[in-house]
Amino acid sequence: MAIRKVRTEEDEVLRIKCKKVAEVNRGTRQLIGDMFETMYATNGVGLAAPQIGVVKRIVVIDDTVGHKMALINPEFTLKEGEQDSDEGCLSLPGYRGKVKRPYKVEVKALDENGNLITVNAEGFLAVILCHEIDHLDGILYKDVAFVYEPIPPEEK
Ligand code: NI
Repeated sequence: MAIRKVRTEEDEVLRIKCKKVAEVNRGTRQLIGDMFETMYATNGVGLAAPQIGVVKRIVVIDDTVGHKMALINPEFTLKEGEQDSDEGCLSLPGYRGKVKRPYKVEVKALDENGNLITVNAEGFLAVILCHEIDHLDGILYKDVAFVYEPIPPEEK
């Protein structure tokens, strides 16, 4: 496994609509390993493949309270309710924002072994899922935020 360079805002790779993974194989699992390692090294709670320059529909998540997952070709099958999130992004360092997100979501995806899984999430985990899956369509949270501001120095 290896820590990969996290791409930031000006990198056009973040704006590409990512391609579906056709086959889940060893290469996929290696990439997922690198994504977890990179996410942990940067203290993130989620990372999408385009953030390390790979235009594939893969995200990894660890909300630090017991929900760790790799999702391949994730798709929303339910979005319900509403919440105002607090978000940041490894690709937009030094900024934070608020987005209107669904309170509850259901996502279907393949796991790292190619098995179909369903994830039901509420609250913060639902926010992470929305944020990461947006990355796969070239969307950054600043595009959909109603607050987007630099983090004050005293809070860094
Ligand atoms: Ni992000």
